[in-house]
Amino acid sequence: MKEMANGMYRIQGEGAFEYLAKAQAQEREGKEVLHFEIGQPDFPTPQNIKDTAYESIENNFTGYVSATGILELKQAIQDEIEQTRGFRPSIEQILILPGAKPGIFFTMLGLVNPGDEVIYPDPGFPTYGSVAKYLNAGDVPIQLKEENEFRLNPNDIEERITDKTKLIILNSPQNPTGSVMTKKEIDRVAELADKNNIFILSDEIYSKMLYEASFHSPAVLDESKERTIILDGFSKSYAMTGWRLGYVIGPEEVIGRMGTLMINALSCTTSFVQKAGITALKGSQDPLTEMMKAFLERRNAIVEGLNSIPNFTCLHPQGAFYAFPNIKDTGMNSREMADHILYKAGVCCLPGSAFGEGGEGYLRFSYATSIETIQKAVQQIKDSFE
Ligand SMILES: Cc1ncc(COP(=O)(O)O)c(C=O)c1O
Repeated sequence: MKEMANGMYRIQGEGAFEYLAKAQAQEREGKEVLHFEIGQPDFPTPQNIKDTAYESIENNFTGYVSATGILELKQAIQDEIEQTRGFRPSIEQILILPGAKPGIFFTMLGLVNPGDEVIYPDPGFPTYGSVAKYLNAGDVPIQLKEENEFRLNPNDIEERITDKTKLIILNSPQNPTGSVMTKKEIDRVAELADKNNIFILSDEIYSKMLYEASFHSPAVLDESKERTIILDGFSKSYAMTGWRLGYVIGPEEVIGRMGTLMINALSCTTSFVQKAGITALKGSQDPLTEMMKAFLERRNAIVEGLNSIPNFTCLHPQGAFYAFPNIKDTGMNSREMADHILYKAGVCCLPGSAFGEGGEGYLRFSYATSIETIQKAVQQIKDSFE
């Protein structure tokens, strides 16, 4: 076979899917595995959201729709952004997408030339570094430090800015550490981007999933008119991972061209799924409140449990639903430990190194599971060391 395009040899997969496959192989051999690897809520999609989708299909709302998204959903997003970020984007600033992930891909495809530099958090969501590599961009991971509770330090960003820096990616609340940047830190990054004329991609997919901390967006400074692209979606907050619904908000010119990318790549986002998205934003938020109540209890249970394992230490994550314990004192690296825990304790988590070199020495547990499963997993891990 002839070689594929060069970028195909640079793009990378995701550790979550690799470990899910390993866990499933164990299950095929008849072994029980407790799952902590996949980042999706274990709650069902709320009934009112499902009902809207059923009704829309019944009413034959099943054809192509506008490539950039249906007007009614964009209007609901305008209200949402006004309430949560304090400014009202224009309709032309909004692009609806099948999930948040295409928002990362299209934003980077739309803004980054080969040789441009992209700054992003390490450990961080694997897509950022992978797409930077795919585009032959200079990828500039910035190490998140446990001393700073895994919050991205604006001084570290400042040190790495060069005249090639095109894009800074922020993600707060963060995957995989659960850290939440302070308003001061976020504002400082927005000012740095403004001063140096750099785009920001602010991945705000966990913005509604907070415990003690509060949420701030760097988009407040420019109202997404100049440089800040907000990425948000429905997968996590409304337990809609399989529906594929997300959006980006950015400067009209950028969003317009990304809409043309959309026409070429996907035509549009599924019509009746967009209708369901309106119900998610406009309907009762009680299911989200209930889910976050459960996640808070689980967070407390898993942090306490992980801290009771010899040589494990774990901070209290402030958002999302991931715990990120430090395992450096065990003498194993994160892959060895994740494998030990899978094969000796029957618990599937992810090595921190699946999120970049900065994650070496840590594990990620997605605590989208019951308190009983959390307690059982902690006990099995303890037993595996005896
Ligand atoms: C930080 C972050 N951004 C984006 C996504 C992708 O979300 P979606 O499933 O809506 O594409 C995820 C999902 O795990 C995530 O953790």
